[in-house]
Amino acid sequence: MQKSRLDKFLINHLALNKRDVRLMLAQKRVVVDGEITLDMDAQINKFSIIEVNGETVQSNKSLYIMLNKPIGVVSATKDNIHKTVIDLLSHQHKSSLHIVGRLDLNTSGLVLLTNNSEWSERLTHPESKVPKVYDVTLKHKLTNDYILAFEQGMYFEYENITTKPAKLEIISDYVARVTLVEGKYHQIKRMFGRFQNPVVALHRSKIGNLALDDNLSTGESRILTNDEVINI
Ligand code: URA
Repeated sequence: MQKSRLDKFLINHLALNKRDVRLMLAQKRVVVDGEITLDMDAQINKFSIIEVNGETVQSNKSLYIMLNKPIGVVSATKDNIHKTVIDLLSHQHKSSLHIVGRLDLNTSGLVLLTNNSEWSERLTHPESKVPKVYDVTLKHKLTNDYILAFEQGMYFEYENITTKPAKLEIISDYVARVTLVEGKYHQIKRMFGRFQNPVVALHRSKIGNLALDDNLSTGESRILTNDEVINI
């Protein structure tokens, strides 16, 4: 597990300089895993519980967040050009989070973030076959032929794979709801590409049993309830 030094952690998390941190430690104001720590070289990791002046600045609690990702924000933790999904969060401990299943830059909707890798691995593991629902707006009219083609799967030569059966519902002439149990590179755009029908807008509305909260405007996020974490 990745370790870091206590003084570095305090400098970064509390925007302090080295002198302040040294003083803070000497004044016995820093507690790591329940014990007062005077040692600035002490090794910590993401599970260490760190308190300063009686307030928890890092807990070992699992954190689960849903975000309504806007178009133009990148599903990454760092990026030199675009805003990232992490930049949009206001929650404490956001630097410990990772993304559970990315969306393309120009796709909007439900993105999950957590610091619990067991949970995210279970959700993203191919064997789990967790359904993900997308609302898709197309440039040209849909026809019933799409339904069977999505159900039968499409062969992608580049990866030498056939897509797993996907459900396509026609909502209106130009709007489909697609449910995938996997997430290949640009999968939805490429599947509609087979019909020479460009995707004009793509929005993820659901992962497993968890629907994007209607109360979240684009760019907003909230912590998942215990029930949501368990029943997803
Ligand atoms: N399929 C795509 O083409 N893009 C996404 O972001 C998700 C699924």
